[in-house]
Amino acid sequence: MIPREWVELVKDGLKNSYAPYSGVKVSALAITPDGKVYRGVNVENASLGLTVCAERVAIFNAVSNGEKRIKTIVLTSNLDKPIYPCGACLQVMNEFGVEEVIIVHGDRVIRHSFNELFPRPFSDWRKQG
Ligand code: THU
Repeated sequence: MIPREWVELVKDGLKNSYAPYSGVKVSALAITPDGKVYRGVNVENASLGLTVCAERVAIFNAVSNGEKRIKTIVLTSNLDKPIYPCGACLQVMNEFGVEEVIIVHGDRVIRHSFNELFPRPFSDWRKQG
């Protein structure tokens, strides 16, 4: 079980998704180890490659508010099957120590450990602490 509030909040975020090109609405939550919740949606652009995924927007929102660690990502979309994070977002999740990815699809809640989704992320040996 996950908090009902997370399910409601991530579904509510779909209304803010900016996806006029693909029509794929995505909403994400980045949740810190002490339980703070930051929201994100996908933001598309006429120059399609500039699109940013909901997961990265949520993480960047958290970091912009002073967070350095994200424990959990919660994700949903308007697709007719559960949405999985893209590789770029997984790499960004790794940077901030994400441990679990929770996909909400209708009444279903699918939980994955981060390691299961991305067992071999790139990591930079120069990064300190
Ligand atoms: N998208 C996300 O927001 N997150 C993902 O993990 C995969 C894809 C968005 C980007 C684009 O706006 C739309 O879904 C279709 O690719």
